Amino acid sequence: MLLAAAERAYQLLNHGLFRRLSEHRAVRLGQALLRAIPLAALRGLALDDPRLAVTLGGVRLPNPVILSSMYYDLAILRRAMALGFGAVTTKSITRTARPGHPEPSLARLVTPEGPGFVNCNGFRNPGLEAFRSGLRSFPHDRPLIVSVAGESPDEYRQLVDGLEAYADLVEINISSPNTRLVYELSASPGRVRALLAAVRQATRKPIIVKLSPDYPEENRRAILPAIVETGVDVVNFGNTRRVEDARLSQGAGGVSGPSLFANVLSTIRELRRAFPPAIGLMATGGIDSPAKALAALEAGADAISYFSAFITRGPTLPRRIGEALLAALERRGLGEVAALRRPA
Ligand SMILES: Cc1cc2nc3c(=O)[nH]c(=O)nc-3n(C[C@H](O)[C@H](O)[C@H](O)COP(=O)(O)O)c2cc1C
Repeated sequence: MLLAAAERAYQLLNHGLFRRLSEHRAVRLGQALLRAIPLAALRGLALDDPRLAVTLGGVRLPNPVILSSMYYDLAILRRAMALGFGAVTTKSITRTARPGHPEPSLARLVTPEGPGFVNCNGFRNPGLEAFRSGLRSFPHDRPLIVSVAGESPDEYRQLVDGLEAYADLVEINISSPNTRLVYELSASPGRVRALLAAVRQATRKPIIVKLSPDYPEENRRAILPAIVETGVDVVNFGNTRRVEDARLSQGAGGVSGPSLFANVLSTIRELRRAFPPAIGLMATGGIDSPAKALAALEAGADAISYFSAFITRGPTLPRRIGEALLAALERRGLGEVAALRRPA
């Protein structure tokens, strides 16, 4: 009842209001509304069942559905936890505060696979010091993944050093297409290796590295071996894909949403075969339904994450995915999500 009512209300809001506003206004209004909803009301939508628990980089997640990197506002991150995500990722934090690129920095995208976005956000965030002081008083009962983005191996090390105490896992973003320095790192595998070695020295917390779908050759040839050799715990595949788009202030941005999914699925299969079993895998890109979440877990992901579907599908998707996973476990007579993986 509650679930169906929440879904109806969200669809009305999304179709009747958000889509009639500019993206910028819709984002502001959507975030303000989410902040205003009491945590207890959102908790009513969450699904908790011990059979959904998974392990990622040695950390127990109550379920495998993760909110991908986009928000730095702690009130929103808490609400995502209340909605039942198994873990929540922060916006990529940079050493100093960044205003982000000017508006328009987000546009809707209609693809044959379904609705998505193209963005040139440019890491709008409060910077290391301000974010760290907020995290000091951020109670959370679900794992928090802190994402960082630097401009040199030393900057990544400083960011990890400053934030790791508050993170359950640390995500190293080397893949956002909206700032040249981060994006072009993937084209310089030697620098990626140096920064992974530097962050490994800076923390004993599990490290996730988030890869770009735009650099398949560099990933295969040099970055994957560096991941194994420097002791990274988890690979997240992946980020948005760079495209030109005249609607955005930068004339280009990163595509998110369901057009990414087919490549994510085949790459997860390939990565599962290529990596030792101890390295965890996250599938990110275009997951917007229980069926896609199940397919990614069957293909070898330990957890899945999404951002676009948080907007296009609304707040009940973590629960809907959880219900579908429990149904699959029951049909197949299995006791845990990890057992859903199909042999390679
Ligand atoms: C507006 C916007 C901002 C984002 N900011 C970040 C970021 O700061 N760091 C990052 O690693 N990914 C960022 N992403 C990428 C998402 O975390 C995710 O990897 C990507 O959107 C693909 O997943 P999806 O298809 O489920 O959205 C952002 C995406 C969008 C749309």
